[in-house]
Amino acid sequence: MIVLDQEKNLSTLHTQNTTYQMKADRFRVLTHTYYGPRIKDGDLSYLVRYADRACAPNPSEAGLDRTYSLNTIPQEFSTCGVGDFRLPSIEMELPCGSCSADLRYTGFELRRGKYALEGLPAFRGTEEEAETLVLFLEDAAARVRVELYYGVFERYDLITRAVRVVNLGEEPARLRQCASLCLDFLRSDLDLITFNGCHLMERFPDRAPLRSGVQGVGSVRGTSSHQHNPFVVLCDHSANEDYGLCYGAALLYSGNFQALAEASQYDNVRLVMGINPYQFCWTLEPGQSFTAPEAALICSPGGLGPMSRQFHRAIRAHLIQDPYEGRRHPVLINNWEATYFDFDADKLVDFAKTAAPLGVELLVMDDGWFGKRDDDNSGLGDWTVNEKKLPGGLEALVPRIQELGMSFGIWIEPEMVSEDSQLYREHPDWALRIPARIPARGRNQLVLDFSRPEVRQRVYGQIKAVLSSADISYVKWDMNRSLSDVWSAALPPERQGEVFHRYVLGVYEMLDQLRHDFPHILIEGCAGGGGRFDAGMLYYTPQIWCSDNTDAIDRLRIQYGTSFCYPISAVGAHVSAVPNEANRRVTPLETRGTVAMSGTFGYEMDPNKTTQEEKEAIKAQVAFFKEHYDLIQRGDYYRLTDPFAEGPYTAWEHVSPDRREALVSLVYGAAHAAAPFRVLRLKGLDPALRYQVNGRGAHPGDVLMSAGWPLPPAEGDYPALRLYLRAV
Ligand code: DGJ
Repeated sequence: MIVLDQEKNLSTLHTQNTTYQMKADRFRVLTHTYYGPRIKDGDLSYLVRYADRACAPNPSEAGLDRTYSLNTIPQEFSTCGVGDFRLPSIEMELPCGSCSADLRYTGFELRRGKYALEGLPAFRGTEEEAETLVLFLEDAAARVRVELYYGVFERYDLITRAVRVVNLGEEPARLRQCASLCLDFLRSDLDLITFNGCHLMERFPDRAPLRSGVQGVGSVRGTSSHQHNPFVVLCDHSANEDYGLCYGAALLYSGNFQALAEASQYDNVRLVMGINPYQFCWTLEPGQSFTAPEAALICSPGGLGPMSRQFHRAIRAHLIQDPYEGRRHPVLINNWEATYFDFDADKLVDFAKTAAPLGVELLVMDDGWFGKRDDDNSGLGDWTVNEKKLPGGLEALVPRIQELGMSFGIWIEPEMVSEDSQLYREHPDWALRIPARIPARGRNQLVLDFSRPEVRQRVYGQIKAVLSSADISYVKWDMNRSLSDVWSAALPPERQGEVFHRYVLGVYEMLDQLRHDFPHILIEGCAGGGGRFDAGMLYYTPQIWCSDNTDAIDRLRIQYGTSFCYPISAVGAHVSAVPNEANRRVTPLETRGTVAMSGTFGYEMDPNKTTQEEKEAIKAQVAFFKEHYDLIQRGDYYRLTDPFAEGPYTAWEHVSPDRREALVSLVYGAAHAAAPFRVLRLKGLDPALRYQVNGRGAHPGDVLMSAGWPLPPAEGDYPALRLYLRAV
């Protein structure tokens, strides 16, 4: 609910459990007065304090009042160059060459339903589901209007934000920075949690109390990156899964981003999140506008667990666009780890022959089916079927797979080009490269200049023809290197600062086109595993390959970190062969199945290299997953332990929305003799209900949560345990 008090210039956004408030003050500076647990209406500007502080500039309107300074006021969208020395949200180069911004409130607009952003991912909400508030600010000297957008989804405690900058002047305006989110806190006793890693080990939580000064994460790789994720949390020092005030902020963006927190001199904190200003500069001709990507905020007064669950629900209900719309996604088998580039049509058909009777429903043909692609040194850019591997093309192969009862999916990497390709020979200038420099290769490939429509059109035309040539129901969109040598032959020197962002817009445009032309196709995002696992991609791709590391034990950590923002249904996870390709670890098949089930679930191994006993086990896993699909994919997720705490086991739980069903999954660590007697306390159950555990007994919910469930001792290394609870 949005409550406006026009006399006081006060805007209050209420969600089910939280309240957010802003007020334009006497000089029409838009101040941020409150964000936290839900409160009744009231003007919280009494919290903003004014004092004469040395070295704090005072705007001219304040006259001789030395207590009024932009440098100490909590602001809704911070400015720069005119007296606030903290993190700026916007930086503009004026025609005179100065860099500054000074914004004053001019009005508002209230709408039912959620605003949309052209060409950018955004949460969606009907008039019944969401409201929009737009606050208008203006910089009179720069002749620029800044529109702050707020989307309020009460049920999910979700507040989205976006920013549009309009050039009202007669001269070009140059934006050097335009953040999506600025959040000022009147306190600094907070922890910052970021999610970091590398290829094969993505999104490990890193939590530390805020120190004085600026701290944070970002990416300058052109993708959101394996290294840092565009999702951060600020929370009470004492916050844990079930307790404490937490603020989660996710950026719906898949390129260079920055999320910085600054703890400043008077124990205030400012969080600024948005496109990374690194090499960014956007020219707005008179009348033109620039839209910064959306940011999503969820405040949880009751700990990290409820915060994550609200993100999961909101992302599932209002961000992801799923061609299956409530139906179950197919269980898939992907040939990558089993064959790499060494496959042909007969081998794929052999996979399907064995996998189909086990209950697997979709065969995904990974990298290597096109052009001259027998290794990763050639072929990218030539999206035509390699008839040596697949005689007769997909027209011949797909019906053979379908006859076996399976559907068919395919891998693509549209943004890349190999120098050894027809496309590159025809258009060497279509790859990103800086004049007079030889571009750096990554995985022996170059990056296509996706900021250019003609480049996208050529690639998309070929891919469209392939997808139209047969009945294809799934696409894995991969992206296997970071951007370097970023320069576009299509833009003049003074506009090269736009290339990084135009590239991302180009990727989004092609994804939109793909969704539009093939609405039945399920797209799985991927970037060398989890290098572009962000809320922006989830708008186009309902699931994302979480990591190239398929080892079940490493995955416990990767999937744990991922779960802080992203729902289980989005987490691409497969059972692969042992020893694992990434770390040579051997884990039981049951454990690999249990971990992959807390994701999209599928297989990535040669089914013809499994024993009869393993086939039976796979059949049982697939049947179990299908039976409990709704509970796992649409239920509430509880992290029961922290896999980084090096405890004896890692456990998590899925609970159905009506709390009548739950699935507890647990993976033990390495075996030890004389194991202590251990008890696992469950979460999220209905204390008044009684539950059968794995088909037996009638155990009160309150007892299972307070006293717990005795765990059997582990046998061997890394065994798994699953407890299915049903109310009786
Ligand atoms: C990286 C992906 O993450 C893998 O799953 C696989 O598709 C390879 N690329 C193929 O080149």
